[in-house]
Amino acid sequence: MKVLVVGGGGREHTIVWKLSQSPKVDKIYCAPGNAGIAALAECVAIKATDVEAMVDFAVKAQIDMVMVAPDDPLVLGMVDAMEAKGIRAFGPRANAAIIEGSKVFSKDLMKKYNIPTAKYEVFDNADAAIAYLQTAPIPTVIKAEGLALGKGVIIAQTLDEAEKAVHEMMEDKVFGNAGSRIVIEEFLTGPEVSVLAFTDGKTIKPMVSAQDHKRAYDNDEGLNTGGMGTFSPSRIYDEKMAEECMKNIFLPTMDAMNAEGRTFKGVLYFGLMATKDGVKVIEYNCRFGDPETQVVLPRLESDLYEIFDAIIDERLDTVDIKWRDGGAVCVVAASGGYPVKYESGSEITGIEAAEALGDITVFHAGTKCIDGKVVTAGGRVLGVTAVAESLDAAIKKAYEGVEKVHFDKMHYRKDIGIKKYN
Ligand code: AMP
Ligand code: GLY
Repeated sequence: MKVLVVGGGGREHTIVWKLSQSPKVDKIYCAPGNAGIAALAECVAIKATDVEAMVDFAVKAQIDMVMVAPDDPLVLGMVDAMEAKGIRAFGPRANAAIIEGSKVFSKDLMKKYNIPTAKYEVFDNADAAIAYLQTAPIPTVIKAEGLALGKGVIIAQTLDEAEKAVHEMMEDKVFGNAGSRIVIEEFLTGPEVSVLAFTDGKTIKPMVSAQDHKRAYDNDEGLNTGGMGTFSPSRIYDEKMAEECMKNIFLPTMDAMNAEGRTFKGVLYFGLMATKDGVKVIEYNCRFGDPETQVVLPRLESDLYEIFDAIIDERLDTVDIKWRDGGAVCVVAASGGYPVKYESGSEITGIEAAEALGDITVFHAGTKCIDGKVVTAGGRVLGVTAVAESLDAAIKKAYEGVEKVHFDKMHYRKDIGIKKYN
């Protein structure tokens, strides 16, 4: 089979890596891909959001299955456009991807179907939002409705900060139209866990749990990033919590989407917080998480292509999905200055040495190949991922791997996976 994976970051490298292990997959294309992906797939220079060009390519190359990994092409309807040309595509259609594309949609869905989440109000007018803030408890959480590269959420610790966030989103349009409407919601506390789930709209099968580290520096200091590292499994997500989530969140969400005529097929990502009043949904994503995928898929023993194939045909119930015990850790190596200003073009060395340690895979995020050399080409550059018989062993291994890798001004967090919740 010929598969096209859409995207070009660490998540896509992991998906391509896992698909390349399937005996059913003969050839993988990836658009646009990166330097690491190029070792496993033929990279095609098409932007992930260029729906028309992607469909044209898929038709010409006679692709058997397209896997759309990032949120924006899903929200733009890339799966619908592929299907319209008779191409099998993995991922939600636009009418279901809205669960991530519009925070107003997802909050209203949860309210309507009694799925636990933070209390909220929606505003399309800055004056009304500011008036509401005068009476709202602080801290408060301000969210732009639309996609904002993971940056559209402000936790305001003071009224001034909250008002500033409203002005920036609604009047200065720092997130463009994504901030035309905002959600102001209750500030919740508790440990967070990410659970990604395969679903075909009839069956939902959660993957092993994971936890992200969003802040740039150790001890959760510094600015929010796209994710500085992940580990799997979460230290708090036990069998009891998994049962609670299945009953109160996972199944009700799948059913709610069906009831709305928006059947969700693909990977549904649940960003959860274990509050003292039970587990609540912080956010939904309509896709694999990045860098959660880097620690979840290395623990998958089953054939990923077969799972995608079954979901497209709505027979996920017939697939037995097996996971490896133990743990996995991904430490992100970022460019100096990330997440603000950073330079690109530094040569990267030591990737092979890290992988030679065994049980380590270095997934590329922002890299490209120039004159046979792999150089940095983004803020998050690599995800050094280790699997081991326990989480603690995986942490140790991942850091041994990171120490082998080098590029100018490389920085990484030293505490990935270490935080313990009691
Ligand atoms: P999101 O982009 O929706 O995942 O939000 C980014 C981060 O903001 C989450 O991972 C949480 O740490 C935090 N966050 C979002 N909503 C809330 C909330 N209602 N209460 C507390 N923290 C939140
Ligand atoms: N790691 C968070 C996300 O993929 O949205």
